[in-house]
Amino acid sequence: MIFKILVIVLLLAIVIHFSLKFIKHKSLYPFMPFKYNFRRRRVTFAKTLKLLDERKAKMIVETGTSREGLKNTKGDGGATIVFGKWAQQNNAKMHSVDISEDSVKGAQDEINVQGLNQTVTVHLNDSLEFLKNFEDTVDFLYLDSYDYSKTDTDIQIKSQEHHLKEFKLIENKLHDNSVVLIDDCGLPGGGKGKTVVEYMLKKDWKVLIDAYQILLVKN
Ligand SMILES: C[S@@+](CC[C@H](N)C(=O)[O-])C[C@H]1O[C@@H](n2cnc3c(N)ncnc32)[C@H](O)[C@@H]1O
Repeated sequence: MIFKILVIVLLLAIVIHFSLKFIKHKSLYPFMPFKYNFRRRRVTFAKTLKLLDERKAKMIVETGTSREGLKNTKGDGGATIVFGKWAQQNNAKMHSVDISEDSVKGAQDEINVQGLNQTVTVHLNDSLEFLKNFEDTVDFLYLDSYDYSKTDTDIQIKSQEHHLKEFKLIENKLHDNSVVLIDDCGLPGGGKGKTVVEYMLKKDWKVLIDAYQILLVKN
């Protein structure tokens, strides 16, 4: 009898464990294969992809590239590949810039695997230098460079200031239909977006989604 009860409890525990795993798995299926878990970015990535469709975006710029390709979609996002794939399917172009040689190599390896070479260009450069010289109009800007810290307030402020500088350098290339997404915002100290969002709200931008990432469009 006791043995039977133990077996039932064990089976129940296994069912609950896998059900919870399934519920927590946030995929972008069918756009991306089900196995990739975008976790806290799923809602904002999905909405952004919808906006890019509706607004027929042609030029995407990302600061901070997918250094692990699609190996760490839960942690980093994998945006270079996600939005690069969207760009390829929609006859758009994407530029991603990163200051680290290793990050550029990591992203480039996955771009090669996914066959996105004609669509996505990864630049080895400081984002500020890159944005200063960028000449095209930008339909979608994704800010995700200078790594944030949950505990070090000095790094927090430097990261926030860096993202504000990035925005100011490309601001005049954005237009009324542009979309801006800022990563790693729902963190202690306000995240990467704190200072740049404050600045944008004083201009003609409004927040569409305020979650782990902040998604903005023009008023
Ligand atoms: C969190 S990762 C980017 C993740 C990527 N956007 C994704 O979705 O997978 C941050 C990247 O920003 C880069 N980075 C840090 N400071 C930078 C700077 N000043 N200019 C350009 N890239 C920078 C780092 O080398 C790192 O690869």
